Amino acid sequence: MNTHLHVTSWVLAFILFVVVIVLNKSGNAKAAKIVQMILRLDYLLILYSGGELLAAYFNGPQMGEAIIKGLAGIWVIFAMENISLKSGRNEPTKSWWIQLAIAVLLTLILGFGRLGFGFLP
Ligand code: HEM
Repeated sequence: MNTHLHVTSWVLAFILFVVVIVLNKSGNAKAAKIVQMILRLDYLLILYSGGELLAAYFNGPQMGEAIIKGLAGIWVIFAMENISLKSGRNEPTKSWWIQLAIAVLLTLILGFGRLGFGFLP
């Protein structure tokens, strides 16, 4: 089971995301770009581990919910990427913060609350 990799990689993503925002806010664009690059590699880990978890639900009774969970997870990644980019260009980020909050709430409710395996055996 890939849950360890999945949880580790999105927790790491949240940490790297905060670092990017803080670096951009403090005018450290160059360092922010480097961390952003690492964050993008971490997205791939999230997608890979999430995709493998998702495959395990195919043709099962919770397939629909698992697909929604996956889409919500992709939405989280989209929001983080857009906020990272826009914070680097000093563009407004409010609408993406709202989307991030909704998407994170959805992923956590569906991931922990609804879908099968529960947190870390
Ligand atoms: C930053 C984005 C994401 C966050 C915050 C997130 C969060 C979570 C959480 C909290 C769980 C439950 C872990 C557990 O049961 O121990 C989970 C599981 C899962 N995630 Fe994600 N996820 C993200 C991205 C994705 C993506 C992109 C996909 C699909 C391509 C995906 C598919 C799944 C699936 C299928 C499960 C299995 C649910 C289970 O059996 O518990 N996730 N995720």
